[in-house]
Amino acid sequence: MISPQAIQSVKDAMRVEEVVGDFVALKRKGPRYLGLCPFHNEKTPSFNVSPNLGIYKCFGCGEAGDAIKFLEKHEHLSYVEAIRWLAKRYAIDLPEEEQTPEQQVEQSERESIAVVQQWALNWSVDQLWNTDEGKRIGLSYFHERGFSDATIKTFQLGYVPEQGNAFAYAAQANGFNPEVLEKAGWIKRRDDGSGTPWDFFAGRVTFPILGLSGQPIGFGARTLKSDKKLPKYFNSPESVLYNKSRSLYGIAHAKKSIVEQGLCYLVEGYTDVISLHQAGITNVVASSGTSLTEEQVRLIKRYAPVVTILYDGDAAGMKASLRGIDLVLKEGLNVKVVTFPEGEDPDSFAKSHSSSEVSEHLKNNAQDFLVFKASLLMAEVGDDPVKKAASIHEIVESIALVPDQVLRSLYIQQCGRMLGVNEQALISEMNKVLRKQHRKQLGGDQQTYEEQLAPEIASPQPEVEDLGTTPQERDLLRLLLNYGHERIMVPFVQDDGSSVEEETSVAELMFLMLALDDILFDHPLFREIYLDYRHSSNLGQPVEATRYVAHEREEWRSTAIDLLTDRHLLSPNWKDRHKIHVKRESEQLKDALEESVDILKERRVDRMIKERQELLKAADELGVMALLTEIVHLSEAKKKLAKKTGRVVVG
Ligand code: GTP
Ligand code: MN
Repeated sequence: MISPQAIQSVKDAMRVEEVVGDFVALKRKGPRYLGLCPFHNEKTPSFNVSPNLGIYKCFGCGEAGDAIKFLEKHEHLSYVEAIRWLAKRYAIDLPEEEQTPEQQVEQSERESIAVVQQWALNWSVDQLWNTDEGKRIGLSYFHERGFSDATIKTFQLGYVPEQGNAFAYAAQANGFNPEVLEKAGWIKRRDDGSGTPWDFFAGRVTFPILGLSGQPIGFGARTLKSDKKLPKYFNSPESVLYNKSRSLYGIAHAKKSIVEQGLCYLVEGYTDVISLHQAGITNVVASSGTSLTEEQVRLIKRYAPVVTILYDGDAAGMKASLRGIDLVLKEGLNVKVVTFPEGEDPDSFAKSHSSSEVSEHLKNNAQDFLVFKASLLMAEVGDDPVKKAASIHEIVESIALVPDQVLRSLYIQQCGRMLGVNEQALISEMNKVLRKQHRKQLGGDQQTYEEQLAPEIASPQPEVEDLGTTPQERDLLRLLLNYGHERIMVPFVQDDGSSVEEETSVAELMFLMLALDDILFDHPLFREIYLDYRHSSNLGQPVEATRYVAHEREEWRSTAIDLLTDRHLLSPNWKDRHKIHVKRESEQLKDALEESVDILKERRVDRMIKERQELLKAADELGVMALLTEIVHLSEAKKKLAKKTGRVVVG
């Protein structure tokens, strides 16, 4: 736990240009910095960093945020990890909670196991390359599997002699105590009372499992005997260092390319990862022996929004693992599936095909998981209506896990078509499932009042209706956030008809102009931010744009960042003028504001006219007269406005 005060002092100290500058070459351009975007490929820089606002924004790909967000995205840190990183960067003490004696023991156990694993890794690699037995048995096995020397070295594959205590002997000679070696999973001790250590991995080749930063945390070890009674693989036991459900085999080698491709391939085993890697597919990981866990899915999600699962060609295996994939759906990842010809797995396929054939196969055969599942289940249904109902129910249960409502509707449509089932039937089936899930979450069996009232149809969330004025409202809010504070001189007409110049702020003038015509924004998000600004400002609090950039509501943050970093404002041309002709600039601001308000009014009047024209169609005689009068007035107002905004009105 890090205290809120400590987090605040980190936030106070962090400078976005320094943090980003640690990873991206930035050039100063007036009040901001410019560089090549690290989040997408580009040749001309469109990645902006604004020290004033404490944010970065790429105009190419839209990535934006503050220094913490940058670390989360670029370094794939969690929020807490980012805070720690920053604390270190700015030499801020993070008073952590006192460690309990148990935690201290765990900490030192973790360190000593880590040292053993690194030493054992080096030892097993040395055995493979530099001993007769290692070369003759281990190395030649890998070669037979088609692994190149470079691949064997990249994955730091190793060998443990058959003798039975070679490792135990060497490790103890190096000063490791047997207890730690046992916890690390490298030795077992005889339970005949003697406690004599023996090598758990004797006669096996080793596949080190690396943590995120490349340090060995555990091992898989494959027997080279064809004896069916022997387990093919032994894996390190869990330890304070190695948590199976949180590790993914290959992640250290894959993470960079997963990010670059925006996609992670998931395979079954060690050799699948290695063979694909050798074939040039480097964004691949395996859940090594265990079925996929929630933590593993979250880990993948930190790197990419899409997971493609590579199934071998065995239908029974495929069906068995369908359930496991529901987990991935639930986390909101986009799941795809690639199958291989009967009897082939990714490893064997990669071996018998060229690199380009492998990547072609992956590209051409990726299909959506839910569609895949539906077709797999329906293939077996035949004419049996009971079976068909059960299969439909199972598919709907999976669809119900997809968190995004719009996506869910699309799946319902698509599966409805595939299954030849009425879409409406699927929707109500899904609503039943959703309610059941919801009840489970509530922990009770009772339907809530809201649930009873809940609509049967999962209609997509209504989009914000653009009544035709959203761009104008956006522009006004942009002016407000960027220049609200700027002072401008405005002529005010006095009672006697003469006018005096008075100083006011852009914000004040905007409030006044809009209030005069009783105008509020239609766009709900813009309206909320506008009202918040006006309210705080009326209370006499100076409103900083950073209030919105750092706001707890994500949609306020992203809207603010978007408005504050508008390309329009960042044009160097504009900035130069800004510096050189301050006076004229403030004139421009007033004009810009007036123009924006006028265009907004014009659009609104336009809308009112159209509404009345619509009403005309159904109006009685009296109504027609009243409406026509209104339309005439409105049209006059519109003409006046149009004259000001320089638009031509016909008629
Ligand atoms: P071949 O394809 O027969 O050459 O063997 P392989 O080394 O490629 O392993 P296989 O395809 O049989 O198994 C795929 C994955 O399942 C392995 O990478 C392991 O993670 C896991 N696995 C297989 N057998 C065992 C076992 O006996 N114990 C454990 N814990 N995991 C195993
Ligand atoms: Mn295999």
